Formats: sequence, C-alpha cells, structure tokens
Amino acid sequence: MPGGEWSEAGLSDQEKRQVAALMRVNHCGEICAQALYQGQALTSKDLAVRTALAQAAKEESEHLAWTERRLDELGGTKSLLNPLWYAGSLSIGIVAGKMGDAWSLGFLAETERQVEKHLKGHKQQLPARDRKTWAVLEQMEIDEAGHAHTAEQLGARELPGAVRLAMRVASGVMTRTAYWI
Ligand SMILES: [Fe+2]
Ligand SMILES: [Fe+2]
Repeated sequence: MPGGEWSEAGLSDQEKRQVAALMRVNHCGEICAQALYQGQALTSKDLAVRTALAQAAKEESEHLAWTERRLDELGGTKSLLNPLWYAGSLSIGIVAGKMGDAWSLGFLAETERQVEKHLKGHKQQLPARDRKTWAVLEQMEIDEAGHAHTAEQLGARELPGAVRLAMRVASGVMTRTAYWI
C-alpha cells in the first residue's frame, strides 16, 4: 500500500473526521469505478478492450482496498449508499458498453480524467502533514491518468460537451453525498 513508509501524523479528532470523509468519497468512487468497468467489460466485443478493462479493474480493486484500509485507520465508516452507487454505476457501464467500444472507451477516458482532477483537489484539502493519505491519493492519481491514456490509445472517442457536463453533475452528487453518508 502506498504511504507505508510514513508514520501517522498525529491528526486531531476533527482532522481525522475530515480526512476520513474524503476517503469515504474516494472509497465510494472506487466502488463506482469497479462497477463501471465490470459493466463495460460485459458488453464490449473487442478482446483488446476487454483485456484493458480487466487490467484497469484489477488496479481499481487495489485502490478500493487502499481506501478501505485508510478509512479504517482513520476510524471512518464506508458510505451507507455504496450498494446504490454500485448498482447505478453498473447500469451506466452496461449502457456505455452497448454504445460500442469507441464511445465506451471515450466514457472511460473522460471518467478517469474527471477522477484525476478530483484527486488533485482532495490532495490539496488534506492536512499537509498527513503523508500517509497523500501517498495513497498520489498513486491513485497516477493510475487513473494511466487508465485514461490506455483508453485514448485504444481509440476513445471524445464525448460531447453535454455528456461530459452530465457526468460531472452526477459525480458531484455522489461525492457530496458520500462525504456525509
Ligand atoms: Fe481508481
Ligand atoms: Fe481508474
């Protein structure tokens, strides 16, 4: 797990609650990522695309394990609505996959770019001395950028602006909700 070389920063209870809330959001995001990829892999027809999706899904399951462990270390709890987000994301992944590989990859690339930006924001919200959490987010950001790059190389199509906006709105609802419950 990234950050293993750092010791706990001695965060106050309030700081722990704040960082745990951020990690609850990221844990929920990783559940969504897994569901999206599973849905897309179910419906993709191309072997190279299915292989790339399976590889990305494997890394997402590592992210899921890291965020879950960090959340636990901070004394936080997982989002109660995770099953709901999972079901919704799986459906979206299936629909994206059915649109064909170029659109499906475009959706994946756009998702990962948005996640990358989101993680950059979370890194700035952390107490600066919490290197343990920072290291997890940093490695996730690198991996997500890699997923976006892979999707682009496999022929991702650029999504229309309205779709990109709708995705930002939907993920905004998820991130704001998971911060609290
Ligand atoms: Fe991830
Ligand atoms: Fe990813």
